[in-house]
Amino acid sequence: MFQKLLSYLIPINIFKQNSSINKSLEVTWNNGKLVLDSKNTNYSYGSLQRALKKGLRFIGFERIEKFENVLVLGVAGGSVIKTLRDEIKYKNKITGVEIDKNVIELANRYFKLNEIKNLELVNEDAFEFVLKTKEKYDLIIIDIFQDTVMPNFLFEDFFIHRINFLLNLNGFILFNTMVLNEKDKERNKIYRSKFKEEYSLRMYPKIEEHNELFTIKKLKI
Ligand SMILES: C[S@@+](CC[C@H](N)C(=O)[O-])C[C@H]1O[C@@H](n2cnc3c(N)ncnc32)[C@H](O)[C@@H]1O
Repeated sequence: MFQKLLSYLIPINIFKQNSSINKSLEVTWNNGKLVLDSKNTNYSYGSLQRALKKGLRFIGFERIEKFENVLVLGVAGGSVIKTLRDEIKYKNKITGVEIDKNVIELANRYFKLNEIKNLELVNEDAFEFVLKTKEKYDLIIIDIFQDTVMPNFLFEDFFIHRINFLLNLNGFILFNTMVLNEKDKERNKIYRSKFKEEYSLRMYPKIEEHNELFTIKKLKI
């Protein structure tokens, strides 16, 4: 395809829409790959996908393949879901929660998420979803951004406790954060201190330019 080839020279934007949640949503051919961006950052299939893939590698692809239930909070174009299916060969259930219905439409139209088997996409605020769900999960991926802003609830005790409750024993949380200034650094330090000896927490700074990842394993109920 001509646009794909040309995109090795310059990025070719093929879709753009304003969004109250994400400022803007843009689908662009970039170096032969279709990516989804918000106004100021990459959302799917670019540096974001690379960052989360590294996080999954830290947890271990072989371990993840055997999990039975995975929750993804913040779906965007679904690049981590594609990594789980195509590279890790994880075949069991995935539930994806995404607040922005326009994002889900784009994910289906441009990235064919609706063709992925055993994937349930829920159009809801992740905060409300985790309050209501009756299921437990082996892996919970938290990847929630509104452009470059991370909502405060992600760092508050209430949400942290609820996520910990939803996690099976020996299960993992993969939390993607953005660190742009000293305040964000401090916020992450406080987050880290909230996990006591029932958890094994690792922090991976500077994964892609501004990303800092956490992997958190539940060692005891
Ligand atoms: C960086 S993108 C997610 C990328 C995705 N994990 C991937 O692998 O391609 C962040 C997403 O979080 C969504 N989001 C923001 N606030 C949310 C909320 N409260 N609940 C659910 N999704 C939210 C945004 O609409 C956006 O699609």
